[in-house]
Amino acid sequence: MKTKPVKIGRNTLCPCGSQKKYKNCCRNKKIEISIKEEYKRKYDILLKEPHQIQSIKKCGELLISILNNVEKMIKPGLKTEAINTFVHEEIIKAGAIPAPLNYRGFPKSVCVSVNEVICHGIPGERFLNDGDIVNVDITPILEGYYADASKTFFVGTPTKEGKKIVSVASESLKRGIQTVAPGATLGDIGYAIQSYAEACGCSVVREFVGHGVGIDFHEQPQVLHFGTKGKGVTLVPGMVFTIEPMINIGKRDLHVLEDRWTAVTNDGAFSAQFEQTILVTENGWESLTPFEL
Ligand code: MF3
Ligand code: CO
Ligand code: CO
Repeated sequence: MKTKPVKIGRNTLCPCGSQKKYKNCCRNKKIEISIKEEYKRKYDILLKEPHQIQSIKKCGELLISILNNVEKMIKPGLKTEAINTFVHEEIIKAGAIPAPLNYRGFPKSVCVSVNEVICHGIPGERFLNDGDIVNVDITPILEGYYADASKTFFVGTPTKEGKKIVSVASESLKRGIQTVAPGATLGDIGYAIQSYAEACGCSVVREFVGHGVGIDFHEQPQVLHFGTKGKGVTLVPGMVFTIEPMINIGKRDLHVLEDRWTAVTNDGAFSAQFEQTILVTENGWESLTPFEL
């Protein structure tokens, strides 16, 4: 026999025994649970619980401490392989795992992308030269949780073009992050980045995007770095995703090298990128991999 569910009034005392009104107590939890189920079903987006956010944040702290130490190593004459060795060892020492290693056949523990390399540079025999720019993109897995962030550094004395593209890429990420709040949309983030970068005379790479992160390396949603205000999925508290605009000083066209990973600009001109892992909070956002932009 089927029984009819009992309808609980908004203003009656909550059945959980809290002595609060139902509308101020478990009714909210019910709404939270239903949003969680809706985002999973409609978009395959995994909203994170507080304990999961704590774990991603802990992973992010490890990531940022390693990234800060990488920054100190950067100088002309350094082999990109040395960055891989350092990052790999630091991650292992912390009891974590480098997510890139063997990820879909990626052969190293960190992405190191110099000058015209947009992303997914494989560290190896390339040496850093004075005036280069170099992005280092780190993703540890700590206690099963992922955090993902990157920065572009100057090697020695920056050139005029180096200064410009690094500044525009950094400010693009900053503006993208600052649009994040419950009720804003993914399109708002893309619009903020694209409108700024293009107004600076730069171009936005479209083939690579930000992504949900935390329980897996690349989760839903895709976070485009171009777009239209008000379009795309509405942001809700508990969403965790990266924003990681790749900005070119020349044209946005690219190709991938024979190694099947290294993405480079067709015109050979500089590309720069900054990435952080961002949590949507009740009031706005929190970076789980914070650094100054
Ligand atoms: N860390 C990159 C990102 O931001 C992904 C690198 S995939 C790898 O999404 F295999 F190249 F490591
Ligand atoms: Co990423
Ligand atoms: Co990354």
